[in-house]
Amino acid sequence: MSLRVGVLTGGGDAPGLNAAICGLARRLLAADAALIGFQDGWRGLIADSTRPMHGEDFQRMLVHGGTLLGSSGDNPYRDEAVMVPKVLATIARHRLDALVAIGGEGTLGAADRLFREHRVPVVGVPKTIDNDLDGTDFTFGFFSAVEVATRAMDDLRSTAESHSRIMVVECMGRHAGWITAYAGVAAGAEAILVPERPAHLEEVCHNLERLRRTGAKSAIVAVAEGTRILERGVCVSSTEKDEFGEFKTGGVAALVSRRIQERLGWEARHLVLGHLQRAGKPIAFDRIFALRLGARAARLVLEKRFGFMAAMRAGEIVDVPIQAAVATRKTLTDKFLDRYETFFLPVGSP
Ligand code: F6P
Repeated sequence: MSLRVGVLTGGGDAPGLNAAICGLARRLLAADAALIGFQDGWRGLIADSTRPMHGEDFQRMLVHGGTLLGSSGDNPYRDEAVMVPKVLATIARHRLDALVAIGGEGTLGAADRLFREHRVPVVGVPKTIDNDLDGTDFTFGFFSAVEVATRAMDDLRSTAESHSRIMVVECMGRHAGWITAYAGVAAGAEAILVPERPAHLEEVCHNLERLRRTGAKSAIVAVAEGTRILERGVCVSSTEKDEFGEFKTGGVAALVSRRIQERLGWEARHLVLGHLQRAGKPIAFDRIFALRLGARAARLVLEKRFGFMAAMRAGEIVDVPIQAAVATRKTLTDKFLDRYETFFLPVGSP
């Protein structure tokens, strides 16, 4: 009897999701397995909503962004007593031999618990544009997002120069500044503000003023949405939390540009890149990276190595326990921040 394998994509979408599905599907179909696509992440297993998975879909879809399965941040542990039994019933109803969860911290966290607490045969594929999942050097979608942010900063240079303005560019990243750091360094931003180091407004302004005295008429400030902004040592960025207990993001670039203009009398504008960083086609690297991860996940299924996920370590595709990815969050290291120290103005306290 052929294997029956379910697949879902959960959490915020990331360019490369369709390529990961393609890599998984091609290898599984070649092994005569049946693939059942669940719609909208864990919600598909809670509500038992599936999508037919045709062989010819995958090859065509791999170039496209988004996910052909749909996605949501829903999680069976949101209401464990009601939803976990529904997920288990769906798995039994479809006689699944394995379930492949493609997602970030929330999606893989649920997969890990279902594996450990209910012996659900899960395999993981890590994804997030934020690149903040541990256990893997990179997640697919990250470099596509960096490309969008870098190009935006490059393009903003000319208008910033024409109007002698500062452009403050807000990138995604609630807890980690990976996108902001990579794009900011690549675009030569004059200041890069990340969640890993609270930003002191006095020092940001002091450094920009120093730059102005050297003759600079414009500057780019890259700021991650989750950066804490301090003024006289007090946090002035949002400390509100949403329904999931996460800090509410958005608005940090507006705050920073307003304060720079007030303090320095240097005209400043802001731009929030937002979901553009998740949109559009994946760059070639992410397509191939995601394909490889998907194919490796299929191998894990065929070898019945459950509780593991495909990952990248030192350029190789390897297997790591899902738990390794969800136990801690991968943020910018001090080593990284020190290596690019001159870019990360301001550092330390004023
Ligand atoms: O994918 C992660 C992420 O991009 C975060 O950086 C961002 O804060 C969040 O998703 C926003 O997602 P949504 O608006 O879809 O909830």
